[in-house]
Amino acid sequence: MNFGHEHPEHPETTDERSRTEETPGTGFQDPEAEPLASEKAAGADLSGVSPGTAGLRDGTAGEPVPRLREEGVEEPAEEGTGEPAEELAEEATEETAGGPAGAQGRPFAFGDLVVFVDSKQRRRLQRLRPGRVFQAPPGGAIRHDDVAGLPEGAVVHTTTGQPILCLRPTLEEYILAMPRRTQVIYPKDLGQILVRSNLGPGGRALEAGVGSGATSLALLRLLGPTGTLISYERRPEFAALARDNVRRFLGEDPPNWRIELRDVYEGIDERGLDAVVLDVPEPYRCVDAAAAAVRPGGVLLAWLPTTNQVQELVVALRRHPAWDLVDTTELLLRPWHVSQESVRPEHRMVAHTGFLITARRVTGPAARTGPGSRD
Ligand SMILES: C[S@@+](CC[C@H](N)C(=O)[O-])C[C@H]1O[C@@H](n2cnc3c(N)ncnc32)[C@H](O)[C@@H]1O
Repeated sequence: MNFGHEHPEHPETTDERSRTEETPGTGFQDPEAEPLASEKAAGADLSGVSPGTAGLRDGTAGEPVPRLREEGVEEPAEEGTGEPAEELAEEATEETAGGPAGAQGRPFAFGDLVVFVDSKQRRRLQRLRPGRVFQAPPGGAIRHDDVAGLPEGAVVHTTTGQPILCLRPTLEEYILAMPRRTQVIYPKDLGQILVRSNLGPGGRALEAGVGSGATSLALLRLLGPTGTLISYERRPEFAALARDNVRRFLGEDPPNWRIELRDVYEGIDERGLDAVVLDVPEPYRCVDAAAAAVRPGGVLLAWLPTTNQVQELVVALRRHPAWDLVDTTELLLRPWHVSQESVRPEHRMVAHTGFLITARRVTGPAARTGPGSRD
């Protein structure tokens, strides 16, 4: 299956993304009982696995990052090992009024997403349904009927007496658990994207591509109901998956979000945008179109997994009179082990996810400040 344009000089650029996205087994997790990728059981051999980094697939090599699991802990339904797509479609079309958008602060109701957390911090995501039973990893079961009506944060006991904490999923937890068929931008980098894009409530942004919808979810939250997000995606199956993922989390199709099935390399129609956020293999091909689409002072932001992609984009931005303050960063997230006995960094961490490149739209000619800016 062809994922993207083959780059004439760096075929591996596209290929690496393709391998990541089309690794056999990437895809659907069991929406009925999704162990969160951030699942962290207590125990020494789980050091280094932390929310936001566990279970990442390396964006450059497409290889799974080694994951440490406590012995005897059930292997989670990693991508592709869960239920088939039809199961998801069913989830997405069911009554979704209980999505987190309007749910915060009120007791659990049928239709809500619930994270069940056991005493080893293993987490499972389920949608609350009448008559349904949650089989807890430590043993025993919990009837969904017994959870409906409880306040968030309540502890219920399984039929074998195990305490289980009930919470609504955070955005981070949901992104790590949601079905995905493409590589997603993980919460570690999403946080930076939200700040570096300089977007806020009421803003207007364009995103390409949509993939599984992780970035869309984060941007929608940032822009709020008065903002607008336009998302270009050239593959209908990914657009559909992203729409399902967003609907399952928010409980509705956000009226301020529009997905267009199209190739961002062929142009951007919007004008006066506050930011363009790119997660496509060859963003350097969008530099000109983005300059026409973004308002003066606005931001172009790209997430890229490899250095050759970064260099290509940065050179293109520096050569363009409408872009300045080109900036490249990489974010390292180091989880810590904190216990009564010891406080130290975890032994393992995810070494690499991707790079963030930003540039500011100027009315030109660009001042060209900064290292290497006159290349
Ligand atoms: C890695 S995924 C994006 C993941 C997304 N940011 C997320 O966090 O879930 C890349 C997506 O870009 C799409 N894509 C690649 N080239 C594109 C193009 N020229 N125009 C529009 N979409 C494109 C792919 O089909 C794929 O869905």
